[in-house]
Amino acid sequence: MDVVALSELDPARREAVTTLLRRADDGGTRHEGRLVLAEHASSDKALAGFALLTHARDGSTAIHVVIDPALRMRNAGGEEGGASRLASELTSAAVTVADEDGTGRPLHLWAMQAGPADDQRAEDNGFVPERDVIQMRVPLPLAEDVLRATRPLATRPFVPGKDDEAWLRVNNRAFAEHPEQGSWTLEQLHERLAADWVDLDGFLVADDPDDPEGKSLIGFCWTKIHRNRDPVLGEIYVIGVDPAHHGGGLGRALTVAGLNSMADRGVHVGMLYTDDSNEAAVALYGRLGFTVDHVDRSYRRISTGTGTGPPAS
Ligand SMILES: CC(C)(COP(=O)(O)OP(=O)(O)OC[C@H]1O[C@@H](n2cnc3c(N)ncnc32)[C@H](O)[C@@H]1OP(=O)(O)O)[C@@H](O)C(=O)NCCC(=O)NCCS
Repeated sequence: MDVVALSELDPARREAVTTLLRRADDGGTRHEGRLVLAEHASSDKALAGFALLTHARDGSTAIHVVIDPALRMRNAGGEEGGASRLASELTSAAVTVADEDGTGRPLHLWAMQAGPADDQRAEDNGFVPERDVIQMRVPLPLAEDVLRATRPLATRPFVPGKDDEAWLRVNNRAFAEHPEQGSWTLEQLHERLAADWVDLDGFLVADDPDDPEGKSLIGFCWTKIHRNRDPVLGEIYVIGVDPAHHGGGLGRALTVAGLNSMADRGVHVGMLYTDDSNEAAVALYGRLGFTVDHVDRSYRRISTGTGTGPPAS
């Protein structure tokens, strides 16, 4: 196996990465960033796996490792430890690349559908567990008794150019404590709104009914349909309620409105990601019938500039 670090991909490698992501059913990982590729030593240099390093605005680097599912299957069959060995090798190569970028910056290693082998690989590379993000799912349409127990709420689609500032204010207030979602800028919102999956009929907002003009936005539910997944998944992409209105049934009504809008468009499975430490969100989703599908885990260490330094405490 050859392990190579690249900042840019030639078209053939880009195609190989995209194909592997599709085969690994990893819709969440994008491939912009620096890559460490593991290619079979055979003449076709087939891609066995890669580690992707993505730099965030706050100076941290996220590392995602993706392994060819065929290799993982062989591994599960007990034939060889190839997949976990390769994951470890890619992780350690990615850490070396990240360390070359300088010292003292946080590195976040992500393991999708994390298991004991991922915990071990993280520990071996000097990482400590940091955050568990759970993926929850619910069958759609929602149960009748859930719908009956939800307060009625008028929602409308987000209007670009008109709702931007108000949405940003509510989002940043609702997510004030959140590492990624709480400090969005207008530029980020516009970038995201330009994504090809955005459908404004699935980006619902609620105005304050007590505002005489009914024009102040107090909550939202932004959905995203993953049509390339089997089954098709209807994601609650971001949901937030202005803290001044928490506890009044608005979060529940907005979540239900978002799920109903996707059920109306033929989606049979609702899905979302949440930090398992977000008690309000986990309670809300549990009451609607969501159950945990799997856990994605992040681990943390501080870059050392040498590639061999101690883990962050
Ligand atoms: C999660 C959030 C949308 C809930 O909105 P809300 O309007 O306060 O929630 P609701 O009043 O509709 O409550 C919904 C249910 O969750 C429960 N709940 C709400 N807040 C809770 C809390 N802090 N602890 C435990 N349970 C809580 C309620 O008991 C309620 O259950 P019920 O329907 O059986 O009465 C809101 O807290 C929020 O915007 N949080 C910040 C953004 C965020 O974390 N979004 C989710 C990311 S995945």
